[in-house]
Amino acid sequence: MHVSPAQKVLVIGRTGQVAQALAHAGAGRVVNVGRPELDLRRPASLTGAIDRHAPDVVINAAGFTKVDQAEAEPVEAESLNVDGPRALAIACRSAGIPFIHMSTDCVFDGTLARPYRPDDLTRPLSVYGDSKLRGELAVADALDRHLIVRVSWVFSQYAANFVRTMLALARTREQVTVVSDQIGFPTHAPALASGLLAMADAICSEHFSQWGIYHLAGNGETDRASLARAVFDLSRRHGGSFAQVEGVLTADYPTPASRPLNARLDMSFTQDVFGIKLPRWEDGLAETVPLLVRELAAN
Ligand SMILES: NC(=O)c1ccc[n+]([C@@H]2O[C@H](COP(=O)([O-])OP(=O)(O)OC[C@H]3O[C@@H](n4cnc5c(N)ncnc54)[C@H](OP(=O)(O)O)[C@@H]3O)[C@@H](O)[C@H]2O)c1
Repeated sequence: MHVSPAQKVLVIGRTGQVAQALAHAGAGRVVNVGRPELDLRRPASLTGAIDRHAPDVVINAAGFTKVDQAEAEPVEAESLNVDGPRALAIACRSAGIPFIHMSTDCVFDGTLARPYRPDDLTRPLSVYGDSKLRGELAVADALDRHLIVRVSWVFSQYAANFVRTMLALARTREQVTVVSDQIGFPTHAPALASGLLAMADAICSEHFSQWGIYHLAGNGETDRASLARAVFDLSRRHGGSFAQVEGVLTADYPTPASRPLNARLDMSFTQDVFGIKLPRWEDGLAETVPLLVRELAAN
């Protein structure tokens, strides 16, 4: 598909890891807006930002993302993951521009034996997953020209994520316990950001018509405990912290929110329509760990 780049991409969110990755990947054409001037809980601040910046397309990289905390804060999760995205979609409809909204593997229950396709049956196991699913439906209901992009297991040098948490834990512990039966496709946020921007370019073309749900994640599968071991192997080689990883079954490691055991997202539809395939997660990890080792050593 031949496309010309979107001149101005408005990204909702500033300090989040995907928001920061989009800022870097789209330097010069991405404008990030976040709190306090834009708040997903204040619809007027959303329309205000779109009017002020007059973008070609909006990407929502903001939301209530603390999966366990959502169990205790369903009203806040609803406000950020359902009402905010609906208001954004309505504002985009009024402005006549397309909208990319990010969602998650947590809309699935993880019982399928293969990677999930965009049209597979959804059945969230958590308040977070339920709010994200209802956010998807609210966006689709409010605006035809939308993409829902489900992503999974995002990591990077930016903000809070699994890789940073592992390295931080290893500074004070010799052993960490990590679930070994949750499998997924870890996704490097900078690669994800490039993919999202390529999708933004494609949907700004007047010929684009394949609106709807897409999956975008890194290539190659692993489980959480193996991912942690890969983090520590790299960290040790770069002079950083490392720990022994004790694998444990999810059933023996209760958390407030349940997560899908199979979080793998089938990306073939995304590849067919947009020609996008993200690199293997190991490539992103090899880039990320030395950056975090240096950052943690400096603090
Ligand atoms: N991380 C993952 O592994 C993962 C997996 C699947 C799906 N996702 C989805 O991917 C998207 C981005 O995730 P992420 O990991 O980049 O999230 P993150 O690092 O937790 O960042 C969350 C963002 O939400 C913003 N935010 C929070 N409350 C807000 C409010 N009231 N008004 C406006 N903005 C608010 C924060 O903005 P401020 O700058 O204002 O603080 C921040 O930029 C989310 O839709 C998430 O559900 C993530």
